[in-house]
Amino acid sequence: MTDQPGNEHPWWRDAVVYQIYPRSFADSNGDGVGDLPGITARLDHLQALGVDALWLSPIFASPMADFGYDVSDYCAIDPVFGTDDDLDALVAGLHDRDMRLLLDWVPNHTSDQHRWFVESRSSRDDPKRDWYVWRDRRPDGSPPNNWTAAFKGVPAWTHDEVTDQSYLHLFLAEQPDLNWANPEVEAAMHDTLRHWLDRGVDGFRADVVHLIGKGSDVEDLPDHLAKGPVIAIDRPFGHELLRRVRRVLEEYEHEPMMVGEVYLLREGQSVAYLGDPLSGEGELHLSFDFRPLHTPWEPEAMHAAIARTQAEFAEPHWPTWVLSNHDQVRHRTRYGSEARARAAAVLSLTMRGTPFLYHGEELGLEDADIPDDRVVDPAGRDGCRAPLPWTADGDAESGHGWRTPPWLPFPRNASTHAAELQVGVEGSMFELYRTLLALRRSWPALRSGAMALAPLDGGLLRYERTMDDERLTVLINLGAADVDWPADVGREGVVLSTMGPAADSVRADEAVVVRH
Ligand code: GLC
Repeated sequence: MTDQPGNEHPWWRDAVVYQIYPRSFADSNGDGVGDLPGITARLDHLQALGVDALWLSPIFASPMADFGYDVSDYCAIDPVFGTDDDLDALVAGLHDRDMRLLLDWVPNHTSDQHRWFVESRSSRDDPKRDWYVWRDRRPDGSPPNNWTAAFKGVPAWTHDEVTDQSYLHLFLAEQPDLNWANPEVEAAMHDTLRHWLDRGVDGFRADVVHLIGKGSDVEDLPDHLAKGPVIAIDRPFGHELLRRVRRVLEEYEHEPMMVGEVYLLREGQSVAYLGDPLSGEGELHLSFDFRPLHTPWEPEAMHAAIARTQAEFAEPHWPTWVLSNHDQVRHRTRYGSEARARAAAVLSLTMRGTPFLYHGEELGLEDADIPDDRVVDPAGRDGCRAPLPWTADGDAESGHGWRTPPWLPFPRNASTHAAELQVGVEGSMFELYRTLLALRRSWPALRSGAMALAPLDGGLLRYERTMDDERLTVLINLGAADVDWPADVGREGVVLSTMGPAADSVRADEAVVVRH
């Protein structure tokens, strides 16, 4: 296997990954929370869409302070999602369809209910004391350093009366940070990977994985960096740890893949966590680049973001494309129109890289409106986590194919954009995604060909994807005005337009794929 285009690729280069937020996908037992059998029952739907792999946000035992990103047992499935047998059935159902499963590995922190932490906090002499980061308060009673936690703007330390010391948590107090400088922690966390790989799981999305590199070094930061959440830690030790994680994955022959949530936005930072795969010093297989997600739908900004990502993730590396996930306002809502969401589908599915779709974007779902008394997430992310409407009948709170009112209200366009209104309906968002996924399958140039980005022409973004004799041009009008059809692109080759039959010009917010 090599990493050169034109030859055989590792599976994850050719794949389209579909993220499921399990609480909100499909509920099989009527408790108002989605579950594993709910997903398994919808595999035909996902296969019809044409995605290659599913990534499930955490399904492990959890008190749910951060809805699963606070894990109390990495090797147990939370009963709200189902059982080990349910997971086996899901894996079997996926593998029967040539699809794969990625689980969400949360290595930076556990739940405060994890038995490791319960033991660690019990006494200063406990053998697991050093599995977490404990420090004395400063003489004036203030926290051990000046770091701020994510979500609530509070210090990243909570004082524990039991042993009169404070523990570090870069997120909620219910999410104490593990100390990866302790080799026992590293070994135990490697075993959690093996546990699921032995069960046939095909890989992982690794949550805020760059943060494990802090080890137990917790010196003060300059005030301007410590005032906001301290989540930009980027240290050599993180790379060392990930090289060893890679070796654990390479113990397995089914080519398990790890994609990292490396939430570092400065030049070259995210790609650095891929390591040097050609010299056997690989780290992550893929590393999210969130800069395009934070880029507005404007020609110059988008062109610059794409150019930068493609340059930084040049061979032997490979980028990812993600416009929505469970932490961000959906791009349908951010970009403000269905036309733009359709053009964005073309963008993310025709670019060089592995696309990650967030469940519901294939329906063009908007965020939900969350009344104050329904807010459950400590960081205000409920809107994008709203349940998926399968049927049109229902209101903001109930129906839509869910037997009982689900844990969150439905997206604001649930009644007009439910799955049943779109599957098999020409011109729907679902059918656009399905067509784009089918195009990727039929044309290797779209999946794994080289990409050449042209200079902007007014608001028109243009790039070519080529492999051997195959050549495709993608045109996306990100501007407000129509743009003349480029003279060197034959309109007879149009295979897809997001606005129906191609016109004399490329219309504002239109995207077109042309074959030469
Ligand atoms: C990641 C997850 C987010 C979670 C946080 C803490 O950013 O995507 O949902 O709250 O890590 O685990």
